[in-house]
Order: sequence, then C-alpha cells, then structure tokens
Amino acid sequence: MTQSLTRPDADIATDWWKRGVIYQIYPRSFQDSNDDGIGDLRGIETRLDYLQALGVAAIWISPFFPSPMADFGYDVSDYCGVDPMFGTLADFDSLLSAAHARGLKVILDFVPCHSSDQHPWFVESRSSRDNPKRDWYIWRDAKPDGSPPTNWIGEFGGSAWTWDAASGQYYLSVFLSEQPALNWRNPELRAAMLGAMRFWLDRGVDGFRVDAIIYAAPDVEGGDHPPNPDWIEAMGPARSHLQTRMSHQPGVYDVVREMRRLIDSYPNRVLIGETAGTLDQVIRYYGEDLDLFHLPFYFSLLTTPWNAKAIAGVIDGYESALPEGAWPTLVLGNHDISRIASRVGVGQARVAATLLLTLRGTPTLYQGDELGMDNAIIPPEAVQDPWERRVPGLGLGRDPARTPMPWQPAANAGFTSGAPWLPVHLPPEGDVAAQSADPGSMLNFVRELIALRGRESALSDGGYRDVLCENDVYVFERRAGSACLLVCLNFSAAPRFVPVGGKVLLSSHAGRAGTRLQTLTLQPNEAIILVP
Ligand code: GLC
Ligand code: CA
Repeated sequence: MTQSLTRPDADIATDWWKRGVIYQIYPRSFQDSNDDGIGDLRGIETRLDYLQALGVAAIWISPFFPSPMADFGYDVSDYCGVDPMFGTLADFDSLLSAAHARGLKVILDFVPCHSSDQHPWFVESRSSRDNPKRDWYIWRDAKPDGSPPTNWIGEFGGSAWTWDAASGQYYLSVFLSEQPALNWRNPELRAAMLGAMRFWLDRGVDGFRVDAIIYAAPDVEGGDHPPNPDWIEAMGPARSHLQTRMSHQPGVYDVVREMRRLIDSYPNRVLIGETAGTLDQVIRYYGEDLDLFHLPFYFSLLTTPWNAKAIAGVIDGYESALPEGAWPTLVLGNHDISRIASRVGVGQARVAATLLLTLRGTPTLYQGDELGMDNAIIPPEAVQDPWERRVPGLGLGRDPARTPMPWQPAANAGFTSGAPWLPVHLPPEGDVAAQSADPGSMLNFVRELIALRGRESALSDGGYRDVLCENDVYVFERRAGSACLLVCLNFSAAPRFVPVGGKVLLSSHAGRAGTRLQTLTLQPNEAIILVP
C-alpha cells in the first residue's frame, strides 16, 4: 500500500474539468419530447434543471449525429449534423446555450475510428479501387485462399474484415460490418476528421469524449493475433485472441496528439479518451509531456471484483502509476456495461457512489446510476443491441443498462407518451420524483456527495492516501493543506468495526450525520465521510 499522500493539484482552479462531475447522457433514453419513443435533444433541454440540481459540472452526450443506427449512433453518416430522430442543429444550439446559461459544460462524443457504411465517404471509397477516397478506409486483398488478410476478430464477434464483392477486397470493420474503419494514416481523412471536430468547437462545445480511440492505427501488416491462453467462452469471441496488432499501436498517440493540438487552440476545452486497456496502456494516453488526453478513462473499476482489498489495490496502483501532473479519472458505469447496482448488488450502490465521488480525479456518472438503477430484464423480442443479437446469451448485450430514465409517475415514467424504444424499468428506490421527495433516497445521497465534493477542497483537489484496508473495510484519506477527510467504506453486508474516529460529515445511512464518534462501527453496506 502507498502510504505517502499523492500530490494535490496546482491547476485545479483554472481547469474546470478537474473540479466537477461529468454526467453521461445516453440521448435515446434520457427524455423524449415528441412522443416517438426515442429521447432527443429537446428532451435533454427540458431536463437541465434536474442536472443543475444534481450538481454536475458537465454533460457528455453519446452520439446524436446522423446515423443509420446499426450501433445506435456509433455508426456516423455525417460528422457535422444532427440525426432528425434527435432533432436539428438549431435544437443543438439551443441546448448548448441553455446548458451554458446554467453553467453546465457540454461534451460531445466523437467517433473517429469508424464511420457508418452509409457515410458518403465510404460509399465513394467502396465504389472502386481507384476512387480518390479508397484510402480513407482500410482495404486489403484477400489471402490467396480467399480468407481475410488477418485472423483479427471484431469486437462484436466474427472476422474484423468484411468482404466487398464488387471491388474484390476486404475492408477492416472492428465492430459491425456497417462500421468500416477509417484510415487515419491518410492525410486527407485526418484533415476531414479534425475539420469535423473544429465544426463543433466553433459552435461552442466544451470538449469531446473520443470513442474507441485505441483502434485508430491498426498494424495490418503486423499480421495475425496470437490466441489468448486465458480465454473462456463467457468473455465473448473478441477476447479469444490477444489484440497485439489491432489496438494501442504507436500511431494512435500521433492521432491523439493532433486532436489535442486542435483542442488546445481553443480556450478551456477538454479531451477525454475511451482508452480501454491495462494500467500501463492507459497511462501512456496522457502523453510523456501530458500532451495527449486530459482525461484518459481508466475502466478498471468496471471489472475488478467488488471487495475492499481488490478495489483498494486498483486505486493504489493507479495513484502510484500516474505521472506528475496527470489528473485521474474513473468510471463506474456507462452505456456499454451492466449497471453498477447490478454488478455490486443494490445494497452496495451507495458505497460504490461514495467511492466514485470521493476519490481524487474527475468522476463520470452514467445517467440513472444516481437513482441506483439496476439492469432491466429485456425479453428476447425486445432486444435492440446488435452485440446481443450477434453473440446472444453471454450477457454481453447492453440493452439492460440503456433503458429510459424513469422520471415520474406517468405513462412510461414520464420518458415518453409514445412506445419507448426499450422497456421502461424502475429502479428499486423508484423514479426521480419519488426519490426527490425522500430525504434518504439514493438520489438525495448522490446529490449530497456531489455538493460535498464541490464544497470540500480535500475532496475536489486534495491528495489521496490509503489508510487501511482490512476486514471488508477500505478507508482512505483526502487532504488539502489542513483540511482532511476520511472516507470509510464497508464492502460487506454485516457491521464492521473500524479503528478511526471523528465527526460524521455524511453517511449513506440515516441519523448518522453530525454525530461524533470515538471509534466507528460501520453499519452493513455503510459509507461514511468523517472529519478526523
Ligand atoms: C465504444 C462505444 C460503444 C460502441 C463502440 C463502437 O466502445 O462506447 O457503445 O458500440 O465504441 O463505436
Ligand atoms: Ca423523440
């Protein structure tokens, strides 16, 4: 365990993206404004009061660009527009200025590594081998026996290569065939994509979460992937081989550096990376001179077994690996993975929220997690996610975490008056209205955590030190100067004695705040923040 206090940060006052909480909106499922059963930009605008009251600093909106929706917006057919399903550019501008008027930043989801196969660029590219845009995508000949150029497996199963009979070559498609991989080694493509980022920056967006960036520079010539010796079927077909050539290749960093240069030519913008990988891999996405992502997501909490030892180990490892000046960023949930409340159990949801919102760095909160949303059960006939359709039954499908926000007691919980695109599912503690009215609800607890984080410099910019980790309890200290707080988390469903004392600032359990304790007995599943 690291015992030294990790450094507080000097730029905290100037860098807004270090100070606040980012809230991820999955727009299809946030709020519908026109009763077609699908959330939209106007719907988001009508819910800005909710986000402001929650206390988040920024919203990251998953893709709303024109798309055939093969992967629900992550297959973009125009990088500089709004899909009519989500509204218009005017709706976006209106949302942006309404958000800014409330002091909320707006981060877009930029999908650089693949477009839709319906994008005019790809339509041209596939039209013939000598089309000027042929090289904007990654085309290769078949092997002499007609098989794909490499054995790479796509993230959603099957070969990562798609055969194009008309032009007699394969194209790389890391996800669906409908998502051909863009070739960032082509300077014209690069310029076009950076131009798309500029389009949104000029409109006033505050930054980007960059999708699947690890695939920006695949090394096709490097050949086949070796089998993964630790593979079991439940991991899904994509993990059956080690991705030694398709992801995290050196060229990726050059791509990110160019994006960052562009971002830095605008004031106060942030660049966030979907950098799925090992700790070493993630750290490299800060750049040696901190010239790559401001915030490369570290996803380890999504897969680490939920116990005090394992979680403390991940955090300590992360804190000690971060280079000087690199700002941490953690995630507990998103639109791609089982809900945190289902992964750790509903009883532990408050412990999980406390962990996320009191650690050093910028937390990203996925819509609905503030309500303790658990996974919805999606009947086979209601399945939407292409991943579940292609690789059914392994629990890889993402629909259970993508169901609509439950707002109030009304048809479809106030999400839509139409037929919702995924079934509406109520979390155990009820909808937003019910939880707002209940002082002890998960929602009000999360609100308090966010407010506390904003108020207490120990939490927003203090250093981190782990204090103890034993007997299912993890205690860590956050300290800025003389301001010091202890965060005490009970990972078990039984009471636990903890040899620390102090004044209770906040507890997940009623009736504890304000009390002074010589020693602490944490109640089952309790999270407490103490002033020692
Ligand atoms: C990212 C997105 C995911 C999408 C994939 C392909 O991982 O988060 O939803 O399916 O990229 O764009
Ligand atoms: Ca709608």
